[in-house]
Amino acid sequence: MKNHLPNNSIATIILAAGQGTRMKSNVTKVLHQLGGKFLLQHVIDAALPLTESISVVVGHNSESVKNVINNNNINWVFQKNQLGTGHAVKEAIPSIADNSICLILYGDVPLIQTNTLNTLIKKAETTGFSILTVIQKNPSGYGRIIRNSSQAIQSIVEHKDATPEELEIDEINSGIMAVRGLLLKKYLNELKPNNSQGELYLTDIVEKAVKDDVNITSFTCENSSEVMGINTKNNLAEAERVYQQKLAQSFMTNGLTLKDPSRFDCRGNLIFGSDCIIDVNVIFEGDNQLGNNVVIASNCIIKNAKIGDHADIKQNSTIEDSTIGSHTSIGPFARIRPETRVGDHAKIGNFVEVKKSSIGNNSKVSHLSYIGDSLVGKDVNIGAGVITCNYDGVNKHQTVIDDGVFVGSNSQLIAPVTIGKNATIGAGSTITQDVPSEKLTLSRNKQATISKWKRPQKK
Ligand code: UD1
Ligand code: MG
Repeated sequence: MKNHLPNNSIATIILAAGQGTRMKSNVTKVLHQLGGKFLLQHVIDAALPLTESISVVVGHNSESVKNVINNNNINWVFQKNQLGTGHAVKEAIPSIADNSICLILYGDVPLIQTNTLNTLIKKAETTGFSILTVIQKNPSGYGRIIRNSSQAIQSIVEHKDATPEELEIDEINSGIMAVRGLLLKKYLNELKPNNSQGELYLTDIVEKAVKDDVNITSFTCENSSEVMGINTKNNLAEAERVYQQKLAQSFMTNGLTLKDPSRFDCRGNLIFGSDCIIDVNVIFEGDNQLGNNVVIASNCIIKNAKIGDHADIKQNSTIEDSTIGSHTSIGPFARIRPETRVGDHAKIGNFVEVKKSSIGNNSKVSHLSYIGDSLVGKDVNIGAGVITCNYDGVNKHQTVIDDGVFVGSNSQLIAPVTIGKNATIGAGSTITQDVPSEKLTLSRNKQATISKWKRPQKK
């Protein structure tokens, strides 16, 4: 949070007590996710660079909201009954200093940008009262901004209380405002629930301030999606697209090649080097880091991964909580599970699952294998269908495969077991004991041919 001069210190109140009935969900509205982050967290993050303090008004499922957001710097305010936006702000007002600027935000308006809030605050610092408005093609449901013939703001009229002429107004109240603490306190105390919903409307403070000749300024946000409220799953999906498009545009501006920005999702943070190429339907989750010249083919899911230079992630692969070396290729259809480390110039091929293992430089696991709880050295070749049997039904055990080992196809390595350096294991072996270095080890029945055998004849 930023340090301001005490006189204009910024105190933020975020309203988040509503249940969000129209989401038709057991999850409280502000805990739905947008771009992999809670709605409320987006609002907090937008305010953080500008404000000295943040109070969040919670009501429905307040405990889960507090637990999930888990931020010690937030002043949580409990609103037992949701008696209106004016009532909600009133509950938080004791912590607001008279000479501060109070920034009021909504927990379900997640796309709001720090720059926009900063402009609004700057206006409020001069006049003491500023509201964020927007021109909406379809203003239905929103409070309308009433101006006089000289364009000065007179009041805000809620949709449900508006006359037919007022409903024609397309300048709407975003709900977001910045007001000097002293003014806010004064007019909140005068609020009455004289409206169709029987609530204390925060918006009514505008008319009261105008009567006192307070000059109410406004900032009209050009981008209406920035103040879009999330009330339904439809709104949530729309906001997600707006968010992803914006992210995609900024990544491309910074040099990332996206084959189709409309089929790209990043639910978290992505850091990338130069000349990375991302094909369609790739989903990034959590914190991901790509080196230079990384190519990720279509339909991959990459979560909390670090991927080295020139790595080639082929289609339909998933990588989770793992590190992939440089010049290494993964997939197609590979599954790299948590705590895996694949070295440089390595290859994990199709239908290979690797879990909690390290695979050394230049090693290859090309087809249809399961490698779990294993330490695989460098220059190892693991044939098709090899399985490390790491689980005895109760405990997990480790398999160690030293440098230069060749494991023949369709072998099972029953852990715990160690395969010595440069050992060769014959195809189809079931290895139950440690294998010495440099030698060929196999465990399979001798092949037999029955020369007098005849095929049965149909009777
Ligand atoms: C409000 C505004 C309206 C504006 C619209 C923008 C009022 C009276 N109206 O209407 O002018 O166009 O937002 O989206 O302010 N909340 C509480 N406690 C309460 C009531 C609400 O915390 O007692 C929270 C809600 O959880 C929500 C926010 O305040 O995050 C807005 O409340 P909501 O009831 O959705 O207001 P609107 O009717 O949308
Ligand atoms: Mg609303």
